[in-house]
Amino acid sequence: MRIGMLTGGGDCPGLNAVIRAVVRKGVGEFGHTIVGYRHGWRGPMEGESMDLSLWTVRGLLPRGGTILGTSRTNPYKTDDGPRKVLATLARDRIDALIAIGGEDTLGVALKLEGDGVRIVGVPKTIDNDLSGTDFTFGFHTAVQIATDAIDRLHTTAESHDRVMVVEVMGRHAGWIATYSGMAGGADIILIPEEPFDIDEICDRLKHRHQQGASFSIVVAAEGATPKEGTMEVQAGEVDDFGHVRLGGIGQRLSDEIERRTGYEARMTALGHVLRGGSPSAYDRVIATRFGVEAIDAAHEGDYGKMVALHGTAVVRIPIEEGVDRLKTVDGRLFETASVFFG
Ligand code: F6P
Repeated sequence: MRIGMLTGGGDCPGLNAVIRAVVRKGVGEFGHTIVGYRHGWRGPMEGESMDLSLWTVRGLLPRGGTILGTSRTNPYKTDDGPRKVLATLARDRIDALIAIGGEDTLGVALKLEGDGVRIVGVPKTIDNDLSGTDFTFGFHTAVQIATDAIDRLHTTAESHDRVMVVEVMGRHAGWIATYSGMAGGADIILIPEEPFDIDEICDRLKHRHQQGASFSIVVAAEGATPKEGTMEVQAGEVDDFGHVRLGGIGQRLSDEIERRTGYEARMTALGHVLRGGSPSAYDRVIATRFGVEAIDAAHEGDYGKMVALHGTAVVRIPIEEGVDRLKTVDGRLFETASVFFG
């Protein structure tokens, strides 16, 4: 068989581990040819590919990023995009395509499936917001990086008697904020799922400081939003998939907290640091298991499936189940996190 593979959307630690697993089993055990398309859906649209031999995946397991490159290109938002993708796949005699990505990349995969492409999906995002899988790889690494940063901010916050606002990624779902905030002992965690009231936050901080605390840590997901009419925030640019470029809530919060409480405040935006570097051991293992399951599915002709983690088992589910809704932070989990607020 000739199997295409691409990585789309924002990169995340573990993508290379998936690529390695697909090639190791696909080429090494099944004897298939794996064609890697460059830069997400731009590769098949523009006919940009590379051969993925066993040799090309040596040393990839711990390497961050993706050797295939990635982009947020949406063929369905580009003139003649889907036709160009189909033409490239036909030219390259591709029997099946493994698409590694989040809601946007897999959403395109689903549409192409409707156009006759045989697809296997692999869920990826540091945000962990894909329905159908308990965890995506990359999330655990991002949480660890954020937690390490929060630990470091604690000591400098304490020395200077400051409120530290830490902004982490998570545009629609606050999984990274909730996990890293819990792990790092944050005094307030703000997530998109629970619009916040700035007055309430400042009251909590004042209460905490009146009880004797001299510093506080506030962890905010970049998509955290104030309750309507309580605080102004700026809108950003929009990408090919209609997502607003976020970032900025941390600074707004820090300014407002300092102004309203009189406590000195500083902001740290962790941003893309959370997506960079080597995957954690846990993410290397899930990524490897996902890669092996994906090539098994392609080999068996089990198309239209996305590999997923259910409990501790790797399973295959219809792609639409993986992308049909956003997986937001579980209310009970956030309630547990909030026991430690203020
Ligand atoms: O992949 C999702 C994500 O990590 C979001 O949390 C964030 O808003 C977005 O990527 C930013 O991506 P970029 O700046 O690379 O487009």
